[in-house]
Amino acid sequence: MNSLKAKFLLILWENNPILRAVAEPLALPLTSAMKEFAHLLIELMWEYDWVWLAAPQVGRSLRMIATTQWKVKDEKYTHLWDTVMINPEIVSVSDKTLVSEEGCLSLPWISGYVERPAEVTVSFFDIDGKKVKKKYSGFNAIIVLHEIDHLNGILFIDKTTKELPRWEL
Ligand code: NI
Repeated sequence: MNSLKAKFLLILWENNPILRAVAEPLALPLTSAMKEFAHLLIELMWEYDWVWLAAPQVGRSLRMIATTQWKVKDEKYTHLWDTVMINPEIVSVSDKTLVSEEGCLSLPWISGYVERPAEVTVSFFDIDGKKVKKKYSGFNAIIVLHEIDHLNGILFIDKTTKELPRWEL
């Protein structure tokens, strides 16, 4: 891990009440401490080889998510960029849905199939406080939707159509 500080961020697990709380909006512009936290969230996400991470998962009940965006072609995933979204809001979703297998760092012993809108338009503030509105589809939409659920105390197991067997720990 690159920074010592990220080492002290621990992932909360399934039964922690912070994961079930509705997270608080962040004041803008972000303080320098909050900007640093945003970078740590991205760093920690990659440390776990993950593609998404929400602030409540490391014990901060704040509306901040670390997301990644991908180009998906012929089942090959190419990483494009990372985006921290502050106070994200869903503007609209498509009627069309898709079902895919999801997992979560807060429940690493289980995965399951979740049906979600195939497209989402989301507005958010970036780390520098600039307002952004973007449309995501496919895997990139799943990432945003799974993470915004975390900010509302919702875990993917609340939405699974079919759960896969739990690992024995
Ligand atoms: Ni998750």
